[in-house]
Amino acid sequence: MNSKEEFIQKLEWNNNITNIEQKEVLAKKIASKVKNGDVISFGSGTTSFLAVKEIGKKCEKENLNIIAIPTSKPIELLCNHLNIKTANLGEYEINWGFDGADEVDTNKRLIKGLGGALYKEKKNIKQTPIVYILVDETKLVEKLGKNCVVPVECDIEKVEYVKKELQKLGAINSNIRKQKDSNGNITTENLITENGKLILDVKFDNIDNNLEKNINNIDGVLDNGLFIGYENIEIITAD
Ligand code: A5P
Repeated sequence: MNSKEEFIQKLEWNNNITNIEQKEVLAKKIASKVKNGDVISFGSGTTSFLAVKEIGKKCEKENLNIIAIPTSKPIELLCNHLNIKTANLGEYEINWGFDGADEVDTNKRLIKGLGGALYKEKKNIKQTPIVYILVDETKLVEKLGKNCVVPVECDIEKVEYVKKELQKLGAINSNIRKQKDSNGNITTENLITENGKLILDVKFDNIDNNLEKNINNIDGVLDNGLFIGYENIEIITAD
């Protein structure tokens, strides 16, 4: 195994990819859209990880030059190892983007951020004209919040206050997310995000269209993993 392959093997997303067959189909679908000179927002999570690897292969084979605007450090490192040039948000006009999601309902409302990169993911999506959301069949739900909690990134010192305010918005429970070890097992240590904040995983019975905004209005909240009413999102499935 060469050093590039070894690096990729060690990346956190390699250990535990569920539904890999469908995610590989999605990776190929998205790679087929890549053209020379494109500036592309790159999402995070296992689906995006496979998509980036596929895009890397295509760029190498067809000698394409693209610029990636990554949504997390691991995706940036992966790009470096695949010789895909990266830039920060705001440096170039983005042509299009892709990302995964944790849940999608029939109105294209999403929950994202179970991988912890929700802040940059939302910033990128807001500045990208068209974003393809790659979802295997397990992500499609009739009622948003059916299987997933809503991640809320917040200041460490405000966490108790934020929990109380979330209750007023209908939260059934909120738990501070813990770090996982290299085998994917949950530890007792709190997860600290790239922004130096905590993530609360919040269960809601009902997610109304104002909830994304209302959560972000709480003092101490940086952002949350709901995407409601984003016209620039197109859902791509594996079929
Ligand atoms: C990362 O923070 C997330 O928003 C991911 O896009 C989302 O969790 C989907 O992840 P998978 O592609 O690993 O299912």
